[in-house]
Amino acid sequence: MVMETAPLSATPPPPPAHVAIIMDGNGRWAKARGLPRTAGHKRGAEAVRRTVEAAREMGISYLTLYAFSSENWKRPAGEVTDLMGLLRLYLRNEVSNLHKNGIRLRVIGDRTRLSADINALIDESEAKTAANTALTLVLALSYGGRQEIVCAARRLAEEVAAGRLSPADIDETAFAARLFTADIPDPDLLIRTSGEQRISNFLLWQAAYAEFVFTEVLWPDFGREHLEEAVCAFHGRERRYGAAPG
Ligand code: FPP
Repeated sequence: MVMETAPLSATPPPPPAHVAIIMDGNGRWAKARGLPRTAGHKRGAEAVRRTVEAAREMGISYLTLYAFSSENWKRPAGEVTDLMGLLRLYLRNEVSNLHKNGIRLRVIGDRTRLSADINALIDESEAKTAANTALTLVLALSYGGRQEIVCAARRLAEEVAAGRLSPADIDETAFAARLFTADIPDPDLLIRTSGEQRISNFLLWQAAYAEFVFTEVLWPDFGREHLEEAVCAFHGRERRYGAAPG
């Protein structure tokens, strides 16, 4: 019998096109060190920088980060202010670096709840980086999957009421086209850090066929090696989209 071995020069499988991450564990990281939660979020922002750079270098096309959920508004006012402050700093200081590296920035979520100055920074950053193609970094801000779905349903209803759309034309494509992610492919791999195993209202529609990888690593400690490990686990999965095993 002839054993088939992979040639040494075998090219590695392509990375997942779209990786989405629920960044969790900033508070626990800080608590374990006797630090205020803000310190965890600050270190979390550094993990964002590392992960974006690694994703670009690994050839991932879309990276979506759950930076602030619609439920996060219920946190103590001081923590919300701190998180918004970090976001402001990120948009002010990091966008030129993103641009230099060919990264396009997109924001999804309910922007009506964000302050005017943050909205202006988002507009500016999206416009500046719009033509970049190395990686699209999608920040989910004030984002909730259920709200997004309700919003899409309302838009469809309005179009039907206005006579621009027939109910018979409402299908998955028509629905997806009214989500924040209309022009973004569905995530292939969804990672959640800190050992929690929940989807927490993130990309509910879009993650229908995503592979889930849960890691014990707390978000402030996350970096390239953890992203590589998750991608490796992804490559070990057989994606069948509901079909029978091949
Ligand atoms: C979860 O940790 C993380 C968040 C609520 C937000 C993520 C925010 C950042 C990584 C910082 C800034 C982001 C950008 C894009 C600059 P948690 O507070 O829920 O942690 P815990 O579950 O341990 O309490």
